[in-house]
Amino acid sequence: MKHSYRKYIENFDVNLLQCMVLGRGHNGIVYLLPDGKVIKVCFTEKSCKSEYYILNKVNGNKYFPRVYGMCGNYMIRDYVGGKSLRDYIKEYGFNRDIALKVIVLFEEFDKLKFTKRDIRCKDIFVQPDATLKVIDPKKCYSKDRDFPRHLSKGFEKLGVLDYFMEVVNEEKPKLYRRWFSKVKEYIREISEEDD
Ligand SMILES: Nc1ncnc2c1ncn2[C@@H]1O[C@H](COP(=O)(O)OP(=O)(O)O)[C@@H](O)[C@H]1O
Ligand SMILES: [Mg+2]
Repeated sequence: MKHSYRKYIENFDVNLLQCMVLGRGHNGIVYLLPDGKVIKVCFTEKSCKSEYYILNKVNGNKYFPRVYGMCGNYMIRDYVGGKSLRDYIKEYGFNRDIALKVIVLFEEFDKLKFTKRDIRCKDIFVQPDATLKVIDPKKCYSKDRDFPRHLSKGFEKLGVLDYFMEVVNEEKPKLYRRWFSKVKEYIREISEEDD
């Protein structure tokens, strides 16, 4: 842990009531700290530990916020600006450039030897400089998944899945062959559930 962040871990004395809430999820609440870093206060120590384990393992990777330490049910990590990919697509639409960036992100999951190679659209952020970051990695080293199930559900809802898969086919035919039937089957399953 960097020396300057020890204060947060050993003697946390920031009043969170005065900090801006950046967001809230099933596992915790994320606040902006006065120095621009963020604190995620988790509802359980277990979920804090498992998320911290992943972020610490990939620490320094450009696709993830850096973490600076954890204590009990909270961790300090870098702020990620921009919009979630879901909100970004809703506002600006989808294009080849973003599709390519998402493909490269999934290739990074392979390089990091994630056993779960999947992520939700809302957990990918498009930063102001147009690069991508994953804010909330879960079960990356514990769950087995070799195709983008969550991502394809999100893309399908946004009406961009077919275009995305077209780009995958053109650019990474091997990956397309790995994903295609699984994605198709999963989308068929969820569309039957909706009927
Ligand atoms: N590093 C971050 N920088 C900026 N906002 C963040 C960051 N991490 C989380 N958030 C915001 O807080 C929300 C909840 O955080 P998240 O880590 O997804 O919690 P949960 O594990 O409960 O789903 C996110 O949807 C996002 O809006
Ligand atoms: Mg979340």
